[in-house]
Amino acid sequence: MRILITGGGGFLGNAVANALVARGDTAVAFDTHFSLDGAPESDHHIRLGGDITDMAALAQVVRKHRPEVVIHCAAIVGVLSSIGSPINIVRINVEGSINVFEAMRLGDIKRCIHISSEEAYGEFRSHRMDESHPLEPVLPYGICKATVEQLGRTYRDLHGLEVINLRTSWVYGPGLPRDRIPRNMVLAALEGRALHIAHGAQSAIDHTYVDDWVTAVLAALDHAEHRYDVYNVSSGHSCTVKELAEIVTELVPGAEISVGPGMYRHGNQIELVRKGALDISRADAELGWKPRFDIRSGLAAYIKALREAKTQN
Ligand SMILES: NC(=O)c1ccc[n+]([C@@H]2O[C@H](COP(=O)([O-])OP(=O)(O)OC[C@H]3O[C@@H](n4cnc5c(N)ncnc54)[C@H](O)[C@@H]3O)[C@@H](O)[C@H]2O)c1
Repeated sequence: MRILITGGGGFLGNAVANALVARGDTAVAFDTHFSLDGAPESDHHIRLGGDITDMAALAQVVRKHRPEVVIHCAAIVGVLSSIGSPINIVRINVEGSINVFEAMRLGDIKRCIHISSEEAYGEFRSHRMDESHPLEPVLPYGICKATVEQLGRTYRDLHGLEVINLRTSWVYGPGLPRDRIPRNMVLAALEGRALHIAHGAQSAIDHTYVDDWVTAVLAALDHAEHRYDVYNVSSGHSCTVKELAEIVTELVPGAEISVGPGMYRHGNQIELVRKGALDISRADAELGWKPRFDIRSGLAAYIKALREAKTQN
């Protein structure tokens, strides 16, 4: 298959592009990042600089490279960035997604795997929740994700597109580029730095290891007939920030990580809504997908990968 991956230069887009190439598919990665990098290309992993807000550029890529499906990862990511510049996030995450759907319509591409987020749910109403939970996003990032999901349904009804939404929890693992609790803890532990997270002991979060996220995308991509257009993707279990600190301390003896009371705050400012675990039984029943990593084995794999990368450098 030839697959267009928007945001294919990012943490998740690059991980899935590598997995597709490894199994013999051709990944056409499209990302603003590449125009700066001038990244090298191979026959099966094409890297193109471009912006999803540029409809002409997207249409040209589709015309030239003839992808059969799209994995839509390009976005401004994160709750804090969305608060800092709501106009920008709407322009890129919503307007850019409409361009992606339009380019698909014009290029006669039917299926899109859209990487949505658990942020589309807003505050969790129970400790574990499935895909029927109401969408009540509270911040621009989640609002944009819910909007794009709904726009995908409009394109389904009007133009026959099939937009499959993967509501993904927080992903961690090698390559994670930004401030995230598991990354901050693991890096501090490996570098022998003490880390105190001022708030968060009570915030329960479901984290997904990057390899599991990749297999979920491939399962959704390969599934012949979807009965649903939305699946939760996560480990299926939550752990509190305090528990996370305890696991990292066990895995890296001597680590000094402490967590203050209450709910976690993004950037120490914006209190996290109440979260919990995502029910992933639909992805299991429909796609035959199960995560391989729980939080302990995922953190152990992450630590191992970082140690190996350090010895190679
Ligand atoms: N990482 C997570 O924990 C997580 C969880 C849920 C959902 N998601 C979603 O998964 C997708 C990928 O996230 P990620 O963690 O890889 O983030 P990332 O920031 O590493 O990757 C996003 C990529 O999109 C590119 N991009 C941004 N604006 C663009 C534009 N206008 N045109 C083309 N490319 C553009 C960026 O350059 C970047 O390489 C996003 O849609 C994100 O919302 C991520």
